[in-house]
Amino acid sequence: MDKPKLTIDEMATFCKRKGFVYQNSEIYGGIAGFYDFGHLGVELKNNIKKEWWKTFVQQRDDVVGIDGSIITHPMVWKASGHVNGFTDVLVDCKKCGSRFRGDALIEDKLKIATAGMSLDDIAKELARHKIKCAKCGSELGEPKKFNLMFATNVGPVQTSSSIAFLRPETAQIIFTNFRLIQENARLKLPFGIAQIGKAFRNEISPRDFLFRMREFEQMEIEYFVHPEKQEECPFIDDVLDYELNVYSADMQKNNKKMEKMSIKKALDKKIIKTKWHAYWLAMMHKWFIDLGANAEHFRIRQHVKDELSHYALDTWDLEYEFPFGWKELQGLSNRTDFDLKQHMEHSKNDLSIFDEETKKKILPHVICEPSQGVERAFLVFMFDAYDYDKKRENVVLKLHPKLAPIKVGVFPLVSNKADLVKKARDVYDKLKTEWACTFDLSGSIGRRYARADETGIYASVTIDFESLEDESATIRSRDTTEQIRVKIKGLKEILKKFLEGEKLGKLGKGVE
Ligand code: GAP
Repeated sequence: MDKPKLTIDEMATFCKRKGFVYQNSEIYGGIAGFYDFGHLGVELKNNIKKEWWKTFVQQRDDVVGIDGSIITHPMVWKASGHVNGFTDVLVDCKKCGSRFRGDALIEDKLKIATAGMSLDDIAKELARHKIKCAKCGSELGEPKKFNLMFATNVGPVQTSSSIAFLRPETAQIIFTNFRLIQENARLKLPFGIAQIGKAFRNEISPRDFLFRMREFEQMEIEYFVHPEKQEECPFIDDVLDYELNVYSADMQKNNKKMEKMSIKKALDKKIIKTKWHAYWLAMMHKWFIDLGANAEHFRIRQHVKDELSHYALDTWDLEYEFPFGWKELQGLSNRTDFDLKQHMEHSKNDLSIFDEETKKKILPHVICEPSQGVERAFLVFMFDAYDYDKKRENVVLKLHPKLAPIKVGVFPLVSNKADLVKKARDVYDKLKTEWACTFDLSGSIGRRYARADETGIYASVTIDFESLEDESATIRSRDTTEQIRVKIKGLKEILKKFLEGEKLGKLGKGVE
């Protein structure tokens, strides 16, 4: 890795101190797995979702979006397989009663990957290595399966038939509405349906701050193709030369290292099996890189056979090198026609669509389901943006201007000169109609610049004594500390260009 990273706990502390993320209900001692987003965190999170929606829904002709309900008919989760299969392995301490995820205990103790381990495998490993309670060191009980769905009651009377579940993934709401969306949006294969929304999982051991939570948000696309045209991807040429770190199931089995290669090579060598899967892996990887993340911290890893979810034919994870190791950032599965078939069978509704070409009814396949957790993306952007600048002696949060929670800070040079403060406030009032801005009067200008750097404010505008004479202001770049002098009249236009990525030096007269 290029520079030593913060630990996840240090990142949590930074996020709390700067107003990004708080432990939920902290005044009552907190509740594990639930977090609240502060005044800057909510802006960053909204910007991440906005950029994702713009790229994968609004700028595409083949994808539409929906916003489904969190609680659905309980049959949805029976049909999807979640009632029976959405489980982790739970182990209780016989003495203190602490509860652990069996695979997490093994990973922590033996430092080995546990992906794909069954209940039996986990029981055997725990026994073989005599693994004890991580809290009190006592004997552990028999491992058992634990369903991760949160249950609730719908309506005033609580009976077994009033039980419903909070959705553990947004995907199923796309499948249950599939026919309506396809008809109303007049979608022709291949097409995608996207959704951003909350998901809930009663994780046995939520950990690593925003990485494993009990309430989180997902950004998902179900991409449907004709069952007989799974190899026809009209966009593949756009990504053939795109390079990324690849770690296939074979490489893992043969203890090989990941390899940097182009999508073309991964397809030619049949490392990635379908063009659509390759296309979406490249597109999702590129989205992160275009928004300022560091490609060296990313790889795509194929699930080994035993690791696949009950619905998946093939899955690749987009992984990121977190301070606690390479972990799943996004899952991209080939879900086949599993879900539509299941819902057809359980609901007795026909979800197939009419194929104009063959004049036959067909059931589309989900060739790829890119499924991204918003909070994991949040962590990635924060880690890659965080930079301690030794010369400045403060953190500089180098978030991409599209993601920066606050785009512009407006600072009057001094706070005790009424006409100067008024001029600065007039400038601020004009700029805030365009972007998220802040107005800061307190402390020296150096202190205010440092505060701006630490919270990722992309441009600082300073109004000084000269501004009162000649209607000019100074713009300072967060990333380079470079400053230019510009006329207040043209300020909005110049800031717009700067926020779109133009170099500050090209936009005005440099200031020493
Ligand atoms: N619809 C497929 C699906 O939900 P998943 O791999 O279980 O697949 C997709 O989840 C993504 O959701 C993950 O890659 C991750 O980014 C996010 N995610 C899953 N569980 C999470 C948790 N407990 N906390 C935070 N994010 C989570």
